[in-house]
Amino acid sequence: MTDSSNQKFLIVRREDFSDVTFLLEISHPMMARAAKPGQFVIVMSHAEGERIPLTIADFDRERGTITLVIQAVGKTTLEMQRNCQVGTALYGLAGPMGIPSHLSDAKKVVCVGGGLGVAPVYPQARAWKESGAYVIGVLGFRNKDLLFWEDKFRAICDELIICTDDGSAGIRGFVTDGIKLALEKHPDIEEVVAIGPPVMMKACAEATRPSGVKTMVSLNPIMVDGTGMCGGCRVKVGETVKFACVDGPDFDGHQVDFDDLMIRLRRYKEEEQVAKERWSETCRMRGIGSEAVSVN
Ligand SMILES: Cc1cc2nc3c(=O)[nH]c(=O)nc-3n(C[C@H](O)[C@H](O)[C@H](O)COP(=O)(O)OP(=O)(O)OC[C@H]3O[C@@H](n4cnc5c(N)ncnc54)[C@H](O)[C@@H]3O)c2cc1C
Ligand code: FES
Repeated sequence: MTDSSNQKFLIVRREDFSDVTFLLEISHPMMARAAKPGQFVIVMSHAEGERIPLTIADFDRERGTITLVIQAVGKTTLEMQRNCQVGTALYGLAGPMGIPSHLSDAKKVVCVGGGLGVAPVYPQARAWKESGAYVIGVLGFRNKDLLFWEDKFRAICDELIICTDDGSAGIRGFVTDGIKLALEKHPDIEEVVAIGPPVMMKACAEATRPSGVKTMVSLNPIMVDGTGMCGGCRVKVGETVKFACVDGPDFDGHQVDFDDLMIRLRRYKEEEQVAKERWSETCRMRGIGSEAVSVN
């Protein structure tokens, strides 16, 4: 399933969770049938747009749709936040890519999502619930205004621990505090899955290291082709070098070199900042408010 300019990837639903985070539901029956938890797509929002990887946060085989949850952080995602409205279409959508998450036969698991990571961990939590596991959800946000999908997680989790940095919802603390609570209460937890910013996933892996509970993380290095050709998404896992797009994106968190990942993610910071400023300036000069704009 690759991108094609004569196929419409129609946006059928949009929901804004906050000033920076929004959801797009896209019609693509074939993709919805093929998608599995842990996989991602490469999106081009318009013909001259950048290709960016986004996790399939949900799929509905009956409706024939996939759901993406996006955080507007730079030029392309800001452009999508402004332009991707219900009734418009994405220019290109390739996938599903990556190796689906391996669902072990663990009977009790913790699914941890931090910030935007809440969305990609959802399909895994649901799949585990469907397989009969006891699922403990741990969701972390900076504050209650950024909280989303609590209802979706309550529907599939046996227990749910919400953590906010400022204590405005759930417990005051980080997801690592939630993990510790879960591990204290349930010594028989067999697996933890943690998805979020690299610094959070690193902290989660450290929180479970003493107990040796298997901890899987989903890595988000910079990707270009998404097919194992460019080497851009190289990550260090134990003694080996892996390409996250074809060997992952899920890896054993106790083996991942997170410091290397974080250094590589910062590699194009200057260029990203320039692209964002140029785009903002173009919008300003054209006097564009909320209406669509497309800039190369
Ligand atoms: C497997 C995978 C799944 C992802 N899933 C999601 C998701 O579901 N929702 C979401 O909002 N974001 C997701 N991302 C991150 C998303 O791809 C980047 O935020 C996006 O590419 C940023 O582009 P930009 O032009 O808006 O920002 P830029 O200013 O170009 O970049 C901002 C930051 O995003 C990261 N980034 C930039 N380009 C890429 C790229 N080509 N590939 C990966 N990271 C990049 C870098 O850390 C960079 O510093 C995922 C990344 C990967 C690898
Ligand atoms: S994105 Fe090019 S090798 Fe993975």
